[in-house]
Amino acid sequence: EPPTSSSSSSETSTPHHLTQDELKKMAAYKAVELVKSGMILGLGTGSTSYYAVNRIGELLKNGTLKNIIGIPTSLKTKQQAISLGIPISDLDSYPVLDLSIDGADEVDPGLNLVKGRGGSLLREKMIEGASKKLVVIVDETKLVEKLGSSTGLAMPVEVVPFCWGYTAECLKRLFNGCEVKLRIGGDGKPFKTDNENYIVEMYFGEDIGDLNVASDKMHRIVGVVEHGMFIDMATTVIVAGERGITVKHK
Ligand code: 5RP
Repeated sequence: EPPTSSSSSSETSTPHHLTQDELKKMAAYKAVELVKSGMILGLGTGSTSYYAVNRIGELLKNGTLKNIIGIPTSLKTKQQAISLGIPISDLDSYPVLDLSIDGADEVDPGLNLVKGRGGSLLREKMIEGASKKLVVIVDETKLVEKLGSSTGLAMPVEVVPFCWGYTAECLKRLFNGCEVKLRIGGDGKPFKTDNENYIVEMYFGEDIGDLNVASDKMHRIVGVVEHGMFIDMATTVIVAGERGITVKHK
């Protein structure tokens, strides 16, 4: 079963009676058309990437694709890839990837992203930063005018568990009116990433402002491991919507 979407219900129907999951699948299948035999591929995480990874597995199995090596961006995707028989490796062995395909939580008009509501932002950023191309697959609900502005949704920041409250306070001081909360998992305990870190959720009361400035400020906080803004990383965004598929290039 695909993981449940981290941002909205998979039951949402569009006027053309396509569910949000059907839109995600459309975007994912379109992205997989870009995969060629012999590629070193970054395999994303989340309910949209799930469809892309499944499709890659299917095409390997029926012989359409050959000699693919997948670099999974999370333990969950690693398990999925193994179960599909996709050969996997890591960045140590393959420091340059041909292509990564992954979902996103928000996409702005400049193709900057918020990622990590599924909690895998650090590995995603490392692997996708090493990719010659990053193809992002979303349904149209993910498009925003400005990152961090979607109502009620947060920008995730991975922090070390040690004195995470102090780190959260430091983050809060950077942005006026910002709320910072610890992500809690389904078991009622702090959510732990694949790297055994915590995630704090930032709710911006005002415009983040210049994204690179905001990014630098966050990186200067010692307890911050990485933030969920993916600035200038996506080369292509495939958006599935009620009127079909739109492909945006950087
Ligand atoms: C996980 C991510 C996901 O790509 C993002 O949360 C989108 O997920 P979905 O496709 O389930 O909406 O960044 O860390």
